[in-house]
Formats: sequence, structure tokens, C-alpha cells
Amino acid sequence: MTVVDEFRALMEARGFEPYGENITIAEHSLLTALAAEESGASETLIAASLMHDVGHWLDEPDDEYGIHFHAALGGDWVAKRFGPAISEPVRLHVGAKRYLCAVDPEYVDQLSPASVYTLGKQGGPMSEREVDAFSNLLYFDDACKLRRLEDNFGKRSGVEVPSLDHFATLLLKHCY
Ligand SMILES: [Fe+2]
Repeated sequence: MTVVDEFRALMEARGFEPYGENITIAEHSLLTALAAEESGASETLIAASLMHDVGHWLDEPDDEYGIHFHAALGGDWVAKRFGPAISEPVRLHVGAKRYLCAVDPEYVDQLSPASVYTLGKQGGPMSEREVDAFSNLLYFDDACKLRRLEDNFGKRSGVEVPSLDHFATLLLKHCY
């Protein structure tokens, strides 16, 4: 079984469960990866964008908003199959939300209601000390880029959602 088969199986089994947004996680994942591709992001960031929410499919949801700590679960899943340039932005994408909420007041204003609710469950905006530590992490930039891509473009309507096959070659190229 290739990583594409594994990801497809999870997506087909769990990707269409609601999680408090007007879009499924499967559609959101594919649209975020498309946005990364359209923005000229690196292949590793496109792959991370595609898989950033895989953690939602790895355990039972905490509530109707999915698994609050899905980034850690998903980061571990991705790290078993890909290098840190892909797994770390996945692991850090919830931290990036907490970081951006601390440093960018406009960012907070555009969060969806579900994202505001889960922010509270995830520890709220980072403290000054957390901001310092987070901004020194090796994959800080890509984690923040991924976060802005998913927030700005990962819930778009009126765009054709690409199929997983569109990203298959890229995943197979970068997996272990
Ligand atoms: Fe997401």
C-alpha cells in the first residue's frame, strides 16, 4: 500500500464527517493544497497543506469540531512517512494559529466561528514567551504560510476541488 492509498483510505472513511465548517475536511485539505500550488509554494509545503488535517481522521472526535489536538496526531502520522519539511508544518499548524492570534489582530477577526471555538480549547493566543520560542523553530515560516493558506483559501466556494490523484505523484516523490 502506498502513502497515496493510505491517505485515500483515511479520506474516504473519515473525510466527509462534519467538523463545524461549511465544507468537509477532505474538500478543505484538497483546496488548501491547491492554494499552496497556485501560490508557487514548495512541493513540501504543498504536501503538508494536503495532509495538515489528517490527524482528524486518526481518532474519535472530541466534539462536533473534530479533534482539538489533531496537529500532533497528524504530525506523527506524516513523520512516519515523510521528512520534517512536510511533517513539521503539519505538526505546527495549530501552533501557528495560536501564534498569529497573538501577533496579528486582523488575523483573529477573520477566523471562522469553529476556529475561534477550538482556539480556546487549544490554549488560546500564545504568550510572549511562547511567541519567542515558536518564531525560532526551523519550520516556523512554512507553518505560518500553511495556516494563512488554509484560512484564506481552504474554505473557498465556487472553485473546483481537485482530486487526490492530482497530488499523487508529488506525494510518492517525497515519501520514504
Ligand atoms: Fe485545516
